[in-house]
Amino acid sequence: MSDSITENADYRAFCEERLQDPYPLFARLRADDPVHWCAPMKLWLVTRYDLCLTALKDERFSSDRTDMYVQALPPDLKARVQPLLDHVAKWIQLTDEPDHTRLRKLVNLAFTPKMIRQLMPRIQGLVDALLDEVRPGEPCDLISQFCQPLPATVICEMLGIPLAERDRFRELVEGIMHFSTAGGPKLKHHAEHAQECLREVIVLFERLVSERRREPRDDLLSALVTAEADGEKLSNDELYAMCVFVFLAGHETTTNGIASGVMALLTHPAQFAKLKADVGAHVRGTVEEALRFESPVTRAVRKAREEIVLEGKTIAPGQLVVFLLGAADRDPAVFPEPDVFDITRSPNKHLAFGFGAHFCLGAVLARMEMEIAFRAIVRRLPQLQLATTDLAWKPTMGIRALTRLPVRVTA
Ligand code: HEM
Repeated sequence: MSDSITENADYRAFCEERLQDPYPLFARLRADDPVHWCAPMKLWLVTRYDLCLTALKDERFSSDRTDMYVQALPPDLKARVQPLLDHVAKWIQLTDEPDHTRLRKLVNLAFTPKMIRQLMPRIQGLVDALLDEVRPGEPCDLISQFCQPLPATVICEMLGIPLAERDRFRELVEGIMHFSTAGGPKLKHHAEHAQECLREVIVLFERLVSERRREPRDDLLSALVTAEADGEKLSNDELYAMCVFVFLAGHETTTNGIASGVMALLTHPAQFAKLKADVGAHVRGTVEEALRFESPVTRAVRKAREEIVLEGKTIAPGQLVVFLLGAADRDPAVFPEPDVFDITRSPNKHLAFGFGAHFCLGAVLARMEMEIAFRAIVRRLPQLQLATTDLAWKPTMGIRALTRLPVRVTA
């Protein structure tokens, strides 16, 4: 890059302050240095669509980066939080073949498109009930009142988490997530609390799993408990890891997909008008464009298994490579006028759900929740407006998340 911003600035200046609008930086990186060594973070940043697409199918990149956690912890702490480290190592997103292939086969038996489609009436009911509470003239943060509770309730019901325990469960899983998303030196501050959270989560799941073993129900947890392929089932530890990870992966991501989509519509009135004029024709395009325009998961992280030369840069074995999906999804070589929000964009082969072996397991569910949410907003709140222009994105690296979405509803 021509100036020294990314070479010399510290982690805070490089990452957090740019998160409000990372796209100009993404554009410069993509044009000038698409495989960029980021010295402050000691990792590679890949921003071009074609490079992300090819590399995410390249088996020389590993998804197993659990040693990153291990190396960042002092030995005594590491020994104390070994159960937490063992748990995180079983998250499907952090496994490679053959474990990944086995886990994916088992979870696919439980997570079928048919099973997801059966959820449609329930999701519609939830959407309607939540929007009943959004009343004309009253202040409303659409995230806390709608975008957040919808996917959280869906995933809790799929996992059979009783209503009374949902808030606690969410707190506990967030405690684990703070550890898993913390980088470098911050990791040790979250490790012990995360382990405590995990202990409580497992007590809850032990109870739920033994209930399902005695009496299977029509939910994802029962399907995961009974899933069997090639004579193999998930072990208890794998089952708990799958439940925690599916909850983590399916919850905030969808919240942000819905929230960013609504915000894009409200800040692009001509696109909102187009959607309202023919929702049947444009709702799917709106979902895809919302996912491309503000890709909720901004990165996929891999580790080089061996020396890899990418676009003339030599990536050493063990180095981390961050594929910036949010940058790839604004690549002008693939998406003409990429900074324009256009619900009729076609083709729109964004990478918001990743690519390759780890392609999002919940893509069908997420798309369905977003579609039902957008349809309901058009039908029930066609006069929806932003109540402020003072919107902010959370200062987190991996997720593109608005802090709140205050809206004004008129009768
Ligand atoms: C708009 C919403 C969502 C977005 C943008 C999203 C995005 C992603 C991305 C980019 C990946 C690949 C990460 C990588 O390659 O390292 C992924 C993986 C995954 N997602 Fe999603 N996701 C969403 C919703 C969901 C939902 C609703 C669920 C489940 C209920 C879910 C479950 C998973 C799982 C289990 C994986 C790991 C798959 C594997 O490693 O084989 N996601 N997601």
